[in-house]
Order: sequence, then structure tokens, then C-alpha cells
Amino acid sequence: MIQIEHLSKSFASPAARTHPSPETGQHALHDVSLTIEDGDIFGIIGSSGAGKSTLVRCINLLERPTSGHISVDGREITGYKGRQLLQLRASMGMIFQHFSLFQQRSVLRNVSFPLEIQRKPRRVCESRAIELLELVGIAEKEQAYPSQLSGGQQQRVAIARALANNPRVMLCDEATSALDTATTASILELLHSINAELGVTIIVITHSLAVTERICNRIAVLDKGRLVEQGATREVLRNPQSQATRELIAADRVAAFPAAACESAGKAGERAGKTADEAAGKDRGEAATEGTRGAAGTRSPGDTGLACKGADL
Ligand SMILES: Nc1ncnc2c1ncn2[C@@H]1O[C@H](COP(=O)(O)OP(=O)(O)O)[C@@H](O)[C@H]1O
Ligand SMILES: [Mg+2]
Repeated sequence: MIQIEHLSKSFASPAARTHPSPETGQHALHDVSLTIEDGDIFGIIGSSGAGKSTLVRCINLLERPTSGHISVDGREITGYKGRQLLQLRASMGMIFQHFSLFQQRSVLRNVSFPLEIQRKPRRVCESRAIELLELVGIAEKEQAYPSQLSGGQQQRVAIARALANNPRVMLCDEATSALDTATTASILELLHSINAELGVTIIVITHSLAVTERICNRIAVLDKGRLVEQGATREVLRNPQSQATRELIAADRVAAFPAAACESAGKAGERAGKTADEAAGKDRGEAATEGTRGAAGTRSPGDTGLACKGADL
């Protein structure tokens, strides 16, 4: 269980370095308290800049909280340094929007990297990496390099690497945001089966309500660094209590029903002297195309093949 109590994080602005005062710091998180239970797939949602990444980076101490407490299985971690810090990070795998793979290493050596830096014997590193590549469904790509893989395949490699140390928790920061819809579905199914079969607690940062509805049993909503709502995913999305959640839901509906959005944006656009395309469709279309391309290029026909069948989705 991860318990976060009264967590705040400020980033010192350049002005704060010369003229320190409470006003010159930038508050990314204010007094956030929440509990993530073992086995949860816990969603953290909110608009851009809400503090989602900062919150997750505080959980594995990539960022040090300014104040407040975080405990993992009852142990306060905020003061961890040295060996304890390394052990904490090893117990929490992390994946990112743009995969963050080592371009000069093969798929196999990307996945074995966390074990290599612990100076495990080469044979052990390789056999564990092969086992993990089988688990995520791309064992046949072990000798390929990241640039030769589709976005979905690269994210599978990143997931395999994040699992190398048998983590109890996996932190996913916008892990499907650079992927198209079908590939997103296959990656979510993989995460779901990792949660169900390996018992890994998963924390999912996303701005997509479709992602949270599909995979998260509980969610928390952040707005300008504050926790404004949390609860069972369905309850929160069906009966939102905060203005920020209602706005996220409204924005999501606009994205899901572009025709209606075009119509209403068209009216707004006409008033503002724009076409409906300029007002609504075009910007979103360009963003979607960029998203589909992912970080490193083309998709292969095998990309949507699921490694983990039988996930309850
Ligand atoms: N390293 C940093 N230095 C200064 N400000 C930061 C840093 N990281 C994040 N911030 C600020 O903290 C706020 C929250 O950022 P972030 O956690 O990345 O939001 P989100 O992930 O929800 O988009 C933003 O205003 C952002 O500019
Ligand atoms: Mg972020």
C-alpha cells in the first residue's frame, strides 16, 4: 500500500534563487493525500500542468517532496538515500510516453540493462530478458534495435525492461499517449494482465478518460496541483463532484464526437470568422496524426497481436 499524506512540492523559480520567498517558488502539488492499495490499477487524471507527473515522480523519489509524507507498506520513504533509495526505485518500474529506450542497445540488451548494472552474470541477464520478452509478446525481436520497431513494440520493450527487477509497482506516465487507438488497446490489455497475473500495482497517469475507464479501478483527479476528487472510476466519471472533473469529461466528449464538436465549433468559428475545420477538426486531426506516428515511426502488421490473452477487457 502506498499512502500519501499532505504532500506538497514546489519548484524554485530562477527568481527564488536570488530572492527566496514563498511567492517565488512554483507550487506543483499542494497538500495531496491519497492511498493506493496493493493490486489497484490507479488512474491519475488532470489537464496538462495539473501536477500528475510530479506526483508520480515523488512516489519513486525522482522528485523530493517539499513537505508531507509518503509511506510504502507502512515505511516512510521520503528520507531514503543510498542503498534504500536504489531498492525503492528497483521495486517500482516506470514507463513513459516516448519509451526512453537506449537506441544503441538491442531489444535484448535494453531489457537486461537493469540487471547488468547490478552486475548479475550475463547468462542470468539474458535468460531473464528472454523470459520477459516472451511475456510481453515480442521475443522474436530480441536482436532488433529500437528504431526498427513500431511505437507499440517499443512500449512492450519498455514494459519488459520495467519488469526486470520484479517490481511490485509500475508507474506509467502517459504510456499510451503516443500510440494509436488499436495499439493503445493492446498495451492496456498487456498492463491489465501484468496486474492480474503478476499482482503488480499499476499507477496510470493519463489525460484520456477512455484509458481510465478501460483499465483503472480507482482514479484521482488533480487540478492545479490539488487533489479535487478520488474514488471508484465509474462513480467519479458518472457522478463528478468537482468542476475540474466535469470539464475533463466535457473535453473528452468533444474529442470523442468530433462531428458534434465541429458543428458547435463551426458556429463559434463562424462567429469568429473561421471555418469549422480551423475551429475544431483540423487542429485535432493534426494532433491525432502525430500521435499515431509515435516517437519512432511506422507500425508493423503484427503490432496489435496480443501477448497476454484472456485479460478481462
Ligand atoms: N523540474 C521542474 N522545474 C520547474 N517546474 C516544474 C518542473 N517539473 C514540473 N514543473 C511545473 O510543475 C507543474 C506541474 O507539472 P507536471 O507535474 O509536469 O504536470 P502534468 O504532468 O500534470 O502535465 C507545472 O506548472 C510545471 O511547469
Ligand atoms: Mg506529465
